[in-house]
Amino acid sequence: MTTRYRVEYALKTHRRDQLIEWIKGLLAVPFVLHSQPTGVFETRTSTVAQQAEEAHRRYAEILKDVEIMIDDHIEHQKSKQEAQSKLKLLVPSVGTFFTKLPLEQAFKEQDMRRFISSRRFVPPSFNDIRLILNTAQIMGLLASGPLDLATFDGDVTLYDDGQSLEPTNPVVSKIIYLMSKNTKIGIVTAAGYDEAERYYGRLHGLLEAVKNSDVLSEGQRKNLVVMGGESNFLFEYDPSSPWLLRYLSRRTWILPEMLRWTEQAIKELLDSAEWALEECKTNLKLPGKIIRKTRAVGIVPEVAGYRFPRESLEETVLVVQKKLEMSAAGKSIPFCAFNGGNDVFVDIGDKSWGVLVCQRYFGANEEGGSIRGDRTLHVGDQFLSTGSNDFKARVVGTTAWIASPSETVELLGELSTLISSK
Ligand code: IMP
Ligand code: MG
Repeated sequence: MTTRYRVEYALKTHRRDQLIEWIKGLLAVPFVLHSQPTGVFETRTSTVAQQAEEAHRRYAEILKDVEIMIDDHIEHQKSKQEAQSKLKLLVPSVGTFFTKLPLEQAFKEQDMRRFISSRRFVPPSFNDIRLILNTAQIMGLLASGPLDLATFDGDVTLYDDGQSLEPTNPVVSKIIYLMSKNTKIGIVTAAGYDEAERYYGRLHGLLEAVKNSDVLSEGQRKNLVVMGGESNFLFEYDPSSPWLLRYLSRRTWILPEMLRWTEQAIKELLDSAEWALEECKTNLKLPGKIIRKTRAVGIVPEVAGYRFPRESLEETVLVVQKKLEMSAAGKSIPFCAFNGGNDVFVDIGDKSWGVLVCQRYFGANEEGGSIRGDRTLHVGDQFLSTGSNDFKARVVGTTAWIASPSETVELLGELSTLISSK
């Protein structure tokens, strides 16, 4: 393996999303051919508008072609031959598509907001495409039925990193609106505690709003759970509990597949993870302390306010991930090693299990005993293939990749407009 290959491919792909990069590459061609940087000297507004129109038409055409290719991939999925779709050949990392993605329509919507076609120096970017995919996802979801379950990551998705959900956060009323339309809500966070009080601290704005809402029925109020530690601690909303949340003992909700996560296997995995973190702490001279919990182990700054270098956090995740993948413990039960922004944690299980538990918890009376993936939306900020915890949720349902709490509010705004227009 050449050094260049290692740097370009083996070490960098985890920081790129291949589908987004591929679409970005496709849109770069009409950008180069049709955007007119010389247009800044152009004084006739009609010419400028014409140029934007032409770019818009070409971008829309390409996104329509991608949409058709995704439809073809979905057809292949139905006959379990997705490995042979054209899309899979072009973008080997693509996973399951739970719904169609109306990319052309979503592009038109986003172009009205972001003026992508009017730009002459900045081509369609990673963020443009990420937002087009999000819009397409909620359009595709609602076109085929109701949204039965929405799950949300906590940090960066609902509130800023390390903060909590205050009553003034505009996301609160958006979530209440979804609940009033009978969508079930799961907060699926890595933050892992077994006491309700800790989650009340992080989520009190939402919990109090659910309690005091005059638009929710008693039944709708119950449609809220918190899944902590990715897939380890489940709480249901309960107005009679002191912190409005009731801890549900694991044996009441654990999935049959999780029974083999024995205490012994968990201990071995956390021991291996702890050694790997210790080694990184020594090698990278990280001024951090290691925290061992019942279902997680992590490294956090020793002194409040200190920020680890981004590169050290990434290196730590990659080292720990690799070591665990190679260990017997890491092969026996699922785990999630991720960069939390200023810490690195290894949790037992991952968000695919967390969302799956929510699907089964709320879907007990549904056909198959579970809410389906194409009726589920997980919203999160961590979707890179390594070192990101929301990524795992892609296996069990549709997802939206946001970059800040305000983007979550915007996304839910789009969602409620679509729901109310039905
Ligand atoms: P999330 O974005 O809601 O998934 O929360 C991730 C953050 O929760 C991490 O970056 C940590 O700062 C914090 N955290 C607290 N306890 C745990 C734990 O047991 N496992 C993982 N993360 C934890
Ligand atoms: Mg997050």
